[in-house]
Amino acid sequence: MHAFIVCEHREMVKGYRLGVIGGDGIGPEVADAALVVLDAAERRFGFTTRRTTIAWSGAMYTRGERVTPEMIDGLRDYDAVLLGAIGHPDAPRGIAERDILIGARRRLDLYVNLRPIVVYSDALSPLKGKGAREIDFVIVRENTEDVYAVDGWTKFAGTPREEVMVEMRFTRPGIERIIRYAYELARTRPRKHLTLVDKANAIPVMGLMRTVLEEIGREFPDVTSDAMYVDATTMWFVLKPEQFDTIVTTNLFGDIISDLGAALAGGLGVGASGNIRPGAVSIFEPIHGSAPKYTGQGIASPVGTIGALQLLLDHVGEHEAANAVDAALRTAFRTARIKGVDAGTHRTCEVADIVAELVASS
Ligand code: IPM
Ligand code: MG
Repeated sequence: MHAFIVCEHREMVKGYRLGVIGGDGIGPEVADAALVVLDAAERRFGFTTRRTTIAWSGAMYTRGERVTPEMIDGLRDYDAVLLGAIGHPDAPRGIAERDILIGARRRLDLYVNLRPIVVYSDALSPLKGKGAREIDFVIVRENTEDVYAVDGWTKFAGTPREEVMVEMRFTRPGIERIIRYAYELARTRPRKHLTLVDKANAIPVMGLMRTVLEEIGREFPDVTSDAMYVDATTMWFVLKPEQFDTIVTTNLFGDIISDLGAALAGGLGVGASGNIRPGAVSIFEPIHGSAPKYTGQGIASPVGTIGALQLLLDHVGEHEAANAVDAALRTAFRTARIKGVDAGTHRTCEVADIVAELVASS
């Protein structure tokens, strides 16, 4: 996928249209840092990006402004979007998140939420005796259905009988496409193992996921699969993370277990995520939030956003550049040039420069 070709020194150079939503808090800082790494990747691998800043944020919501579905449609003009963080302490809770993050996932049908759990250095793992070798899996979170796709209702508001309701909604096509994506991904991984995470004992309709897992599994005889309840999964993440390779799960369970997964890799500061629709505009972001208390100090770690950039490069087809960013992050941690991801361990720009330099010399 590339949107335009430019002639540079008479050679054809691939170009991509990139939207950049810095957002709130530390968002713009970590996004800028990732763009420094992107500059290095472009020079090293010979492609260009045409970058457009998109000024959406939770802060807009403190002024009564909103991001509308028509504005979300505008994102279709890009090949990919890099997003820092959305969330402002003074904005009404959940509206910006629903308009922008969940709104884009649904409106653009970004049905995959890809969240790799990578331990860049054994020292980052909080688990005794478990490091990079034991903790290495990827969560494929369904990104368009479940309670996230339903508004719910309130009855008898303001009375002692007040009642609220929201349903979990899953469709066969929705389940099939995410399970097929996960099988295809599992096939490319060394262990070729797929685990479906559900709660089919307490929520029997989730049995449909197990049926589809088995049906589609027949097309992937080289991939082994199993199914696990989400409560047990949280236990096994901590006790025996080495049993996981590729995980496929629902929107809500994926939201919850991916924070735990990120903790296994060293904290929210390392986690990256892609909101993906294969072959179409997709949005890449760190999994951390806007961290208002660190805003403007230049001390937030950009590692999660650089990881998101890596996923973005893979999405648009710049696989060599993506691999170079991955290798650069691993080298930077292995050689202790990056010592951690907690705010203040490094300056944001220092981390960007280290990774950019390693990409340039890759
Ligand atoms: C995430 C976030 C969002 C979600 C929130 C901010 C709406 O937690 O991307 O994991 O629940 O999906
Ligand atoms: Mg979350």
